[in-house]
Amino acid sequence: MTAPAAPAEPTPQMDPDRLDALLGRVIGDLGATTTAGGVVVGHRLGLYTALVQGAATPDELAGRTGTDPRYVAEWLAGQAAGGYVEYDPATGAFHLTPEQAFALADPAGPLYLPGAFVLALGALRAEPRITEAFRTGAGMGWHEHDDDVFLGCELLFRPGYTANLVASWLPALDGVEDKLRAGGRAADVGCGLGASAVLLAQAFPQATVSASDYHEDSVRLARKRAAEAGVADRVSVETAGAQAFSGAGYDLVATFDCLHDMGDPLGAARHIRAALAADGTWMVVEPRAGDTVADNLNPVGRAYYGFSAFLCVPNARSQPGGYSLGAQAGEAAIRQVATDAGFTRFRRAAQTPLNDVYEIRP
Ligand SMILES: C[S@@+](CC[C@H](N)C(=O)[O-])C[C@H]1O[C@@H](n2cnc3c(N)ncnc32)[C@H](O)[C@@H]1O
Repeated sequence: MTAPAAPAEPTPQMDPDRLDALLGRVIGDLGATTTAGGVVVGHRLGLYTALVQGAATPDELAGRTGTDPRYVAEWLAGQAAGGYVEYDPATGAFHLTPEQAFALADPAGPLYLPGAFVLALGALRAEPRITEAFRTGAGMGWHEHDDDVFLGCELLFRPGYTANLVASWLPALDGVEDKLRAGGRAADVGCGLGASAVLLAQAFPQATVSASDYHEDSVRLARKRAAEAGVADRVSVETAGAQAFSGAGYDLVATFDCLHDMGDPLGAARHIRAALAADGTWMVVEPRAGDTVADNLNPVGRAYYGFSAFLCVPNARSQPGGYSLGAQAGEAAIRQVATDAGFTRFRRAAQTPLNDVYEIRP
C-alpha cells in the first residue's frame, strides 16, 4: 500500500506564521520523543539518583554509576537541553535542582516521572501490531504487551495513589473509612501489580482486601508486592476478570484506572453490584477527562489519547463485550455504564490533576 501523496510546496493559502508555530511544536515533540529513551536509560542505570549526590562532570557521573563516560556525556547534554538537568559551563558540571531531584530521582517517592516514560516506551514497542490493528480493527490484550507496560504503569500510578487514596479519595466517600477501620472487606478489581491493594491493607490493618486481575503475570507480581509489604495475610490476589471475581458482601469495590480498558465494563459493573453489600460503595478511579473530544484537547488529554490508542482501546477490542470507552471516556460515559448496571446513586467525589474519582452506590 502506498502513502497518500503530500503537497511538495507550501500552498498559497498557508499562513507562514502558523507553519512556523507547527514546526516549532514538532521540533519540541521530536526532542521529547528521542529523549524519552534517555529518561528510561537514566531510570535503569540510576543516573538521576547518582546526580543527587552532587554536581558531576560526565566522567564523575560515569564513575559513580559504573557507566561509560562518552555515553554519559551525550546523555547529560541532552537532558540539560531538555531542562531535566542543569549545566554550568564554567565548571563543565551538571546538577539537579531540588525540583528535578524530587521528580526524577526517587523511585519510591511521592512523584517519580521516569515511570511515565517506562510505560510509554513499553507501549510503543507494540507499534507494528497497533498499526496493523488500525487497518483490521483487531484487538491486543494487556497481557500481550511488553513487561515495561506493567512495570511502568505501576511506577506511574503508585505515587498518585500513595498521595491521594488514603489522604483524600477514601475520606470523600460516604462512610467507607469507618467500615474499613472496623474490619470491612474491600475488593480491588483490575488491580495490576497491586499498589492500591497494598495501600488499602496498610492503611486499614483490620480490613481484608481481595484483589484480582485477568492478567496472570500481574497477579503473580501483585502477590509478591503484598508479601514484600508484609500484608500478604490480609491481601489475596486471584486471576479473574472483572466480570467474574470471587466473593460477595464487599463494603468497597474499587476499580483503579481499568474500567475504561474493558471490553465489557457493563458486565463488570453488574458483577460489582452483585458483589457489593447492600450499603456498599463502588469507587471508580478513572483518568481525568471531560465528556467531549473538545473538552480533552489539552496536555493531559493528549497523553491519555496516546496511551489509549496503544493500550486501552486495543485491550477492550480484544475482549468480548463490544465497548471500547478509551482513556478519555469522561463522566457521562462512566455514569451511563453505572446506570445501565442498575446503580442508582452516582457522584464525582474527588478530582486530582490526573484522575476523577466517582462514588457509585446500589
Ligand atoms: C491501566 S492498568 C491499571 C492497573 C492498576 N489498577 C493500577 O491502577 O495500577 C489496567 C489493568 O486492567 C486489567 N484488565 C483489563 N481488562 C480486564 C478485565 N476484563 N478484567 C480484569 N482486569 C482487566 C489489566 O490487566 C491491567 O492490569
